Amino acid sequence: MKSKNIVLFGKPGSGKGTVAAHLIRKYDYSIISTGDILREIKKTDTEHGRIVNELLRKGNLVPNEIVLSIIREKLKELTEPIIIDGTPRTLQQGMDLSELVNVGIVLFLDVNDETIIPRLLERGKTSNREDDMNVDIIKQRLNQYKSESEPLVEFYEKQGILVRIDGEQPIEDVFKDVDNMINDRNQDM
Ligand code: AP5
Repeated sequence: MKSKNIVLFGKPGSGKGTVAAHLIRKYDYSIISTGDILREIKKTDTEHGRIVNELLRKGNLVPNEIVLSIIREKLKELTEPIIIDGTPRTLQQGMDLSELVNVGIVLFLDVNDETIIPRLLERGKTSNREDDMNVDIIKQRLNQYKSESEPLVEFYEKQGILVRIDGEQPIEDVFKDVDNMINDRNQDM
């Protein structure tokens, strides 16, 4: 059975990285995580590194052209099926991504803001991520999600490829729902 490519979508801290790790452990996916790649780029002593560092620190989105060039480069290296974690975050990125790769499933982890803030502050104690350590930066990331990323829910719903998963559940229950969804959605290929 050939698996569809998956976009992991949801608010900051909704569990995208956690679900990505589960999928990779259990199935045969390659992964592109734009957040992880950007955190590597920000450490470099380059013009891009400085721009990315400043944007990530403040919880702002990185310009589309940087994100798309990352995706293009990674797609050259990887074999399908792939998981894309963290992109798209804007309607423009959604349209651009469709030109680069066939998105088969958009797994939307649905979580309330009230759950996200303590989750990320807790992770900030050990993650070494500046954007997890300050409640105002977390709120800024959530605001940015609402204005820039949320319209993608309707964009993908209209295409019939959005699958909503309750991300408020305990992690093991989220994994069970994800596994059921993967099996159902890959049946029809
Ligand atoms: P990115 O790394 O993608 O950050 P994010 O979207 O803010 O997501 P997180 O990594 O914070 O959370 P997650 O949803 O992966 O949750 P996780 O599984 O870790 O991007 C970072 C930055 O890069 C962005 O802010 C932006 O600046 C830039 N960027 C990236 N992509 C971009 C793009 N396309 N365009 C422009 N800019 C871009 O879980 C979080 C915590 O919750 C963990 O501690 C976990 O253990 C816990 N947890 C998870 N699930 C559960 C559960 N069900 N119950 C209880 N705890 C849970």
